[in-house]
Amino acid sequence: MDNNNPTLTVLRPDMQHALIEYAAEFSAAGEPRYAFITPEMTREEYAALLLRQEADSRGIELPDGRVPQSVYYLVRGGSYIIGSSRLRHTLTSRLEQEGGHIGYDVRPSQRGKGYATRLLALTMGEACGLGLPGVLVTCDDDNYASARVIEKNGGRLINKIVPEDGDKLVRRYWIDL
Ligand SMILES: CC(C)(COP(=O)(O)OP(=O)(O)OC[C@H]1O[C@@H](n2cnc3c(N)ncnc32)[C@H](O)[C@@H]1OP(=O)(O)O)[C@@H](O)C(=O)NCCC(=O)NCCS
Repeated sequence: MDNNNPTLTVLRPDMQHALIEYAAEFSAAGEPRYAFITPEMTREEYAALLLRQEADSRGIELPDGRVPQSVYYLVRGGSYIIGSSRLRHTLTSRLEQEGGHIGYDVRPSQRGKGYATRLLALTMGEACGLGLPGVLVTCDDDNYASARVIEKNGGRLINKIVPEDGDKLVRRYWIDL
């Protein structure tokens, strides 16, 4: 696989080590967003995570208040994970305010190289495949990198709001597909 041409994949059985390594980099950088994935994760726990992500994407046995969601990984060289995105197939009133259809992150060592821009573009392609006419994407008002990523993908600022259950200003963008 071309190292300069990362691809999008759902989680695969052979990605346990890569996922643990991805999560560890966030923790080492003081970003606990993947703290639930530890180096001690067992094969059984990983298998359960795989099944849950697959079920979530099919809308099977969703917890209350959850909508179907597909999780994707931007990988290069087979399974080195550069970034991850989450595509919500529909919106709840909470996601309408913050979260939107697509969320994403790029591992700290790979930021500033255009990967999030590519990751959002590829995830928009998946959203298009679901038949969505467009996507809502939100970010904190002071998350300049994320705002730039959205704008480079054609995002039009709808407004800035403070979500009902939040205290920070959030930018809400719409992107036509
Ligand atoms: C936000 C995030 C996904 C960006 O990833 P990335 O791979 O660095 O993004 P890209 O390289 O594709 O693009 C970043 C753009 O923002 C710009 N940027 C980066 N840091 C910036 C800053 N502090 N101020 C202004 N612009 C900034 C870059 O210059 C680039 O724009 P350019 O191409 O016009 O130069 C990454 O920082 C991240 O994972 N953050 C933590 C999770 C997060 O905030 N996710 C988004 C939630 S809405």
